[in-house]
Amino acid sequence: MSHNNHLLTVSDYETRSRELFPPQLFEANFSTDGGRFEANTRNIQAFNSARLRPRVLVGVGTCKVSTTVLGQNIGVPVMIAPAGVHQRAHPDGELATARAAASAGTVMVLSQHSTYTIEEVAEVATGSLWFQLYFLKDRAITERLVLRAEEAGYKALMVTVDHVGNLQSEHQIVDASWRVLSNFAGTDLEGLSASEVYHNRFEWDLNWSDLEWLRARTSLPLVVKGIQTAEDAELCREHGVNAIVVSNHGGHALPDAKGTLETLPEVVDSVRGELEVYMDGGVRRGSDVLKALALGARAVFIGRPLFWGLRVDGERGVLDVLNILRSELESTMRLCGVTNVEHVSRSLVSMPASWDPERSLVGVNGRVP
Ligand SMILES: Cc1cc2nc3c(=O)[nH]c(=O)nc-3n(C[C@H](O)[C@H](O)[C@H](O)COP(=O)(O)O)c2cc1C
Repeated sequence: MSHNNHLLTVSDYETRSRELFPPQLFEANFSTDGGRFEANTRNIQAFNSARLRPRVLVGVGTCKVSTTVLGQNIGVPVMIAPAGVHQRAHPDGELATARAAASAGTVMVLSQHSTYTIEEVAEVATGSLWFQLYFLKDRAITERLVLRAEEAGYKALMVTVDHVGNLQSEHQIVDASWRVLSNFAGTDLEGLSASEVYHNRFEWDLNWSDLEWLRARTSLPLVVKGIQTAEDAELCREHGVNAIVVSNHGGHALPDAKGTLETLPEVVDSVRGELEVYMDGGVRRGSDVLKALALGARAVFIGRPLFWGLRVDGERGVLDVLNILRSELESTMRLCGVTNVEHVSRSLVSMPASWDPERSLVGVNGRVP
């Protein structure tokens, strides 16, 4: 139940935060629509075009939404996606988000481009934190970030691989008055704008051998974010990756990408249960979460909605957004005759025939491959 009685849905939070953010900042970074983030519009369309096939008379008095990711318990299968510069939305930035994620019993992934440092966030977080890395040309700085995350108790490393050579970057509008990119203090990246780091210091020559380089330097589980094909999912499996995030960077990268829900089944099938698969992009309702789980995601991530919650009411706003999704997930599960998030099957979703005729038939007939 939302503590903000007038804001009952995640989309209410979007509407309210749009009134509070400076318009240019909102449109460039946090808006779902506006024709700017085509791939994210497609993410949302994919959720809308997949339909649920409810079962009845199965006894839904109890409903379990807790699960595990990489062996860690989470209270709800909705995690906080890595996103840069939370202070754009609230002075408490990532500290507020980390506290909210802990209260909801879920994981927060801290972006390398956070406004509070790896250590500052670890200090206040009582829940599980993962750290997200963009490979820098300077491998010594990359390696140092990994070691700092390990030492501060982060439980997994997420490498984002879809954001090189992008057209629409979240790094465009970052005001110097925010304590930007605090993790680079003491390096020669200190004081650079997010845009400068992105354009001049990111490793655009990233390839599979870089993952091996990273694997050799850390014992933390490795999560690769930005996988959009069965072929790359298979390569992740071969390279010892522990989990994958099916993601198109919320439409901030390649505009012509498919909706991520549409991509999810081919990725899930290709890894044959050997890696965990998560997804993000356009998750706005509990029913979206359930559809993603049914198509094989172990959990989902939210990006923009965390900024909407943060802008409206800081830590309480982010927690409220997570609670809204949890409560909607529970009611959708009950209406679908599902009592445990770990036992959701593909037969719950009817996919549009246009996605992939072979797979859509599976949904329609209620058969699971
Ligand atoms: C403002 C903003 C900043 C982001 N910063 C990062 C980042 O630093 N690292 C990263 O891997 N992804 C980043 N992302 C992408 C998110 O992790 C996620 O893939 C995306 O937001 C999911 O879509 P959604 O916003 O519709 O939930 C960012 C997204 C937004 C909207």
